[in-house]
Amino acid sequence: MSKLIIGNWKMNGSIPLLNAFIDSIHCENFVLAVPNVFVAYSHMKDKFLKLAAQDCSIFQGCGARTGEISADILKESGAEFIILGHSERRALSSFDGIDSIYKKLNNSIKAGLKVILCVAENFNKLLDKNTSEFIINNIENIYIAFEPISAIGSGKAASLQEIVDTLNAIKSKFSGIKCIYGGSVNSENSAEILTLESVDGVLIGGSSLRLGEMKAILGCDAQV
Ligand code: PGA
Repeated sequence: MSKLIIGNWKMNGSIPLLNAFIDSIHCENFVLAVPNVFVAYSHMKDKFLKLAAQDCSIFQGCGARTGEISADILKESGAEFIILGHSERRALSSFDGIDSIYKKLNNSIKAGLKVILCVAENFNKLLDKNTSEFIINNIENIYIAFEPISAIGSGKAASLQEIVDTLNAIKSKFSGIKCIYGGSVNSENSAEILTLESVDGVLIGGSSLRLGEMKAILGCDAQV
């Protein structure tokens, strides 16, 4: 498959915007991370759209956990991928400390989801021994997304050199891992970033809410 273009809507978007995306984008390498409550709706509207959830519970399966959403429920709702460990969540360690992320990673893989595991500049610290072993044993279904904190939402992506150096460092730690870059990717810099050999995809926040931007980045026929 060609390199993944993943839109991360974060806590944004609406049903009309979703309908506009569903009506006009049909690209196989496009993944849309909608707010979790929109996953089932999106899947029912377009079963070919690849969907990512943005987080899951530390608890597995079903149970008396009011307000929680498990990886299994997200999978059943139509998610194929899940973003875990985004720095916006790691910043609030009561949400996502290393141990919670490890549990979520386990739950997601057990549920049959592919994981986009986000790390920042300090990736070695974030990928502790347990997490690293788990990644090695599930390398086919885990993508590591390098998202430097300074680049997220700043309008200034990391330099191509920083992207290559960091992704190569991650790839030498985890042989065979697929790596994503995220942080201020837009229609002006995406082509350049995507030509880098070590980049297996991009994770796009702000620009992913603009249909025109996404069509330009995807470059595929919007009306297939
Ligand atoms: P950005 O966000 O594209 O708005 O910088 C990327 C992300 O946080 O995933």
